[in-house]
Amino acid sequence: MEIFGTSSALIYDINLIIQIILVTAFLIDAFVIKPKRRLKAHGTIMATGTVINLLAVLLIMGPSLIRNWGAIAADPTNLGALITLAHASLGILALSGGVVFSYRFLSGVKSNKLACGKRRSMRLAILFWTLGLLLGLGFYVYYYVLV
Ligand code: HEM
Repeated sequence: MEIFGTSSALIYDINLIIQIILVTAFLIDAFVIKPKRRLKAHGTIMATGTVINLLAVLLIMGPSLIRNWGAIAADPTNLGALITLAHASLGILALSGGVVFSYRFLSGVKSNKLACGKRRSMRLAILFWTLGLLLGLGFYVYYYVLV
């Protein structure tokens, strides 16, 4: 039943692994291999990662947020609630960037004009995505390792 052996349900361990793989892939793609002159591969990686993340939000993280909303609203300044709210807000920003860039990329593929977004806004989206992951890790450690 357990991967990491914490109090977390298996699905959240799996979500953690998925999210780490996605952010690692994005960072390697953006800063090690670099998107220049391989825009099609870059767009494909970003669009695939965005769809996977969207599914993880709709099927795993979103339902957890809804389920625990009562506890968050009852004590919103509690450390766990603050981590959760900051994480969900950054996650929504990161995912919105991913959806907009992926949409532009996919529309461009048809007309053979590849353009996702401005370099600065894509870097901002990767920053939000990475900070979202760090807060997600914070959530995991706080609720499943420490508490
Ligand atoms: C870039 C986007 C995101 C990344 C990288 C990310 C990453 C993570 C990670 C690593 C965890 C810890 C593993 C777990 O407990 O499942 C987590 C948990 C969680 N995330 Fe996200 N997340 C993102 C977007 C979102 C969004 C958009 C929401 C809300 C709408 C959200 C809500 C949650 C919640 C509620 C949990 C706790 C799940 C539980 O009960 O354990 N996340 N996230």
